[in-house]
Amino acid sequence: MNECVLVLDFGGQYKELIAGTVRGLSVFSEIRPGGMPVEEIKALSPIGIILTGGPNSVYLPDSPKCDPELFNLGIPLLGICYGMQLMCHMLGGEVSPGIKGEYGRIPIIPADSSKAPFKALMSHRDAVTKLPDGFCATAHTASCIAACEDAEKKLYGVQFHPESKHTDGGMAIIEKFLFEICGATGGYKLDDYIDLQISAIRRKVGDQNVLLALSGGVDSSVCAALLTKAIPGCLTCIFVDHGLMRLNEGDEIERAFSKRKLQFIRVNAQERFLSKLKDVADPEAKRKIIGEEFIRVFEEEAAKLGDIPFLAQGTIYSDIVESGGKHGATIKSHHNVGGLPENLAFSEIIEPLSGLFKDEVRILGRKLGLPKPLVSRQPFPGPGLALRIVGKITFEKLEVLRKADAIVREELDGIRRKPDQYFAVLTDTHTVGVKGDDRTYDPVIAIRAVETGDFMTCEYSPLPHRVLGRMSSRITNEIPSASRVVYDITSKPPGTVEWE
Ligand code: XMP
Repeated sequence: MNECVLVLDFGGQYKELIAGTVRGLSVFSEIRPGGMPVEEIKALSPIGIILTGGPNSVYLPDSPKCDPELFNLGIPLLGICYGMQLMCHMLGGEVSPGIKGEYGRIPIIPADSSKAPFKALMSHRDAVTKLPDGFCATAHTASCIAACEDAEKKLYGVQFHPESKHTDGGMAIIEKFLFEICGATGGYKLDDYIDLQISAIRRKVGDQNVLLALSGGVDSSVCAALLTKAIPGCLTCIFVDHGLMRLNEGDEIERAFSKRKLQFIRVNAQERFLSKLKDVADPEAKRKIIGEEFIRVFEEEAAKLGDIPFLAQGTIYSDIVESGGKHGATIKSHHNVGGLPENLAFSEIIEPLSGLFKDEVRILGRKLGLPKPLVSRQPFPGPGLALRIVGKITFEKLEVLRKADAIVREELDGIRRKPDQYFAVLTDTHTVGVKGDDRTYDPVIAIRAVETGDFMTCEYSPLPHRVLGRMSSRITNEIPSASRVVYDITSKPPGTVEWE
């Protein structure tokens, strides 16, 4: 995996798609923050850099910028949409607000008249109105410069989105950038990722022991499969049942994993977690407490087992980005990243999936022989139902939420086009209702169902009203202390998937 193309992110909604397309063309690609300092970029020795689109206007003072030295590195660079505008603006060109913008499939006319016009996906209002010295326009639309280049310096820009399926020949443009301009050889395969990780793990671990935090979710299960392949005799998986799991989930996980060829230990720590969380209402505090308690349990189990210097986790790329990573803003401390205490008793943490996205982890899981139902499970956060009870957590609230959540899942499991993630939330709002002849004053249950590929952005799922109605009727009838149900129709951003 020596060849790497960096995707520098300026908030564009297609950044995952760009990185995924590059990887799909067998070249490893990573997304990093747009403002990453040039020294850090050089340390990664990328063979190419792609600047993503973004929602800002480059001429505004607080719009995101890249390190100006980026353009002097001699590394081939492709600016897409905002990325092209940023490059032109920073190199002395001009970008102006467009009059009406261009959205959808727009005809593109190449400057080279031997090339045929084609249609490309555009989504912009601002446009480059004057190119920097040394640049020439290589294509236009009816109203703007659609592509430009300074071939000598290997700087290229496209106002449209070649990564989109809606751009004719978009893939060929990315291919040309990777293989002709960056000189990629394209040896990257997910199989290589497995081999590379296996040898790296073996090198690091030798014949010492590793403890894996197994939650039963996709990421930790795939991590378990990878480690079983790498260091079969040295792996112990610990499943901490923190009492914040969904209905019957702890038993199901135990059943699934005790059948497999690995050492599996279930630790029942429900009371311990609940007493630590008693009276805690702040979401970040909950996450930190759960993260810390997880580690304490692991440390204790490790001590019982003898000398286990390594703790393995199924952390994936989006966990790191959401938790702020090195450069970004902390949205939420995912329990397995920002939630870890500083004084760890393990000498090292192993996170073999930390460079991958969810869909790649699923493919890897299948390649490692995990069953489809396991690898296609929807995500369930490590802190579990703690993130779905607004405010303080009690055993009674957990029981109500477990029932409501089971109803939501039962109803949606049966529909043909399922949302990517769906669950119930127990809010801390009480409302007046009437059951029989009696007044009730019970908490509101919210239903959340989202469509997403990367889990970093999402749209709410437009569920059929009849399905929503059935869920509402079942929740209010089957759960005595629930008298009202609402549907959360917030996208991310500005909302997040989980409520806490
Ligand atoms: P948010 O709420 O951040 O969720 O929009 C995005 C995705 O991440 C999951 N999530 C977590 N997963 N530990 C996890 O393992 C966490 O602390 C955590 N917080 C959110 C969430 O379920 C969704 O799939």
